[in-house]
Amino acid sequence: MLILGIESSCDETAFAVVENGTRVLSNAIASQIELHARFGGVVPEIASRAHLECSVPLYHEALRDAGVSIDDIDAIAITAGPGLAGCLLVGVEFGKALALRHGKPLVAAHHIAGHLYSVYLGRERNAWGTETGAAPEPCEPYVALVVSGGHSSLVLVRDFGKYEVLGETLDDAVGEAYDKVAKLLGLGYPGGPLMDKFAATGNATRFDLPRPLLHKGEFNFSFSGLKTAVSREVEKFRAEHSDGAPLPDDFVADMAASFQAAAVEVLVEKAARAMKKHRVHRLAVTGGVACNRGLRAAVATRFPNAQIGIPAPEYCTDNAAMIAGVGFQLYQQGRRSDLALNATPGMGLY
Ligand code: KG4
Ligand code: ZN
Repeated sequence: MLILGIESSCDETAFAVVENGTRVLSNAIASQIELHARFGGVVPEIASRAHLECSVPLYHEALRDAGVSIDDIDAIAITAGPGLAGCLLVGVEFGKALALRHGKPLVAAHHIAGHLYSVYLGRERNAWGTETGAAPEPCEPYVALVVSGGHSSLVLVRDFGKYEVLGETLDDAVGEAYDKVAKLLGLGYPGGPLMDKFAATGNATRFDLPRPLLHKGEFNFSFSGLKTAVSREVEKFRAEHSDGAPLPDDFVADMAASFQAAAVEVLVEKAARAMKKHRVHRLAVTGGVACNRGLRAAVATRFPNAQIGIPAPEYCTDNAAMIAGVGFQLYQQGRRSDLALNATPGMGLY
């Protein structure tokens, strides 16, 4: 069975073709990073316009890369929420138009359900190490840490579609905090990958930064206090060195390492507690921040006996293959949407 996935909830336009919910035949993505970089964050109006411009070429690219035509596609899966309203609408309307024109069934997918599903994707093997191609072998239950620029959630996946959100961020998402701290340190946008690079050479004990909610708030997170603590250290340093020069590399590296140590400790400890409480031995880490080397290393060290599923980087960041995967599961369950489908920016995970 071939599903065409469409994703446009934030700043990536993506179309993908996935076979039987696991084998990715194509994964076409247009990132808008350069368009938003000079604003230091995603500008919704610019993002929606870019989705409009990219959708037709990416749709053709996804079919071409997969070596199929629209006639071969069994169903179309679209991210209906959560996300930016104007951005979601582009994908939803595009998918509806395709469904109407070609007489294809339509399935609405939840963006976070996509990130949770991404551990099942791969050309040959998935993040659990299972061969892809046939329908996914159940690996539930697992605890998932969904960490990106827009989300920081800890979710218990009991079965496909049976999710329990254990905790979420009360303020900034962890990727957002990475980006804001990178900005304070004079690095570019998005800051996460640059922080990762600097952190690798820095001294993580130079700055004693807080571990927000480490012993409170059960499974919820908070990262804005951590960002404020960095901001205070930067101000202090600048006041002591009032020469107006850019921050020295050793300060930036040590701060990136100290920030990363604090953020990663909270993420990993909360995941550990969630696994213990629910007696689960599998942990999935997905979303853009799952690419972070410090987080990957900490997870490997902290859970030597657990089964860890971290998707390949192209399935960690926003993509349409994960949406096609969710679409496959929903389609198998007989779930269909009609042409009244609308974007739901605040869609809950249920
Ligand atoms: O999943 P994603 O592409 O889009 C969202 O849904 O937000 O995640 C992007 C986020 C950005 O905040 C980016 O800075 C962060 O993931 N990120 C990283 C790394 N690579 C991407 N953060 C830390 N370390 C990285 N290596
Ligand atoms: Zn996402």
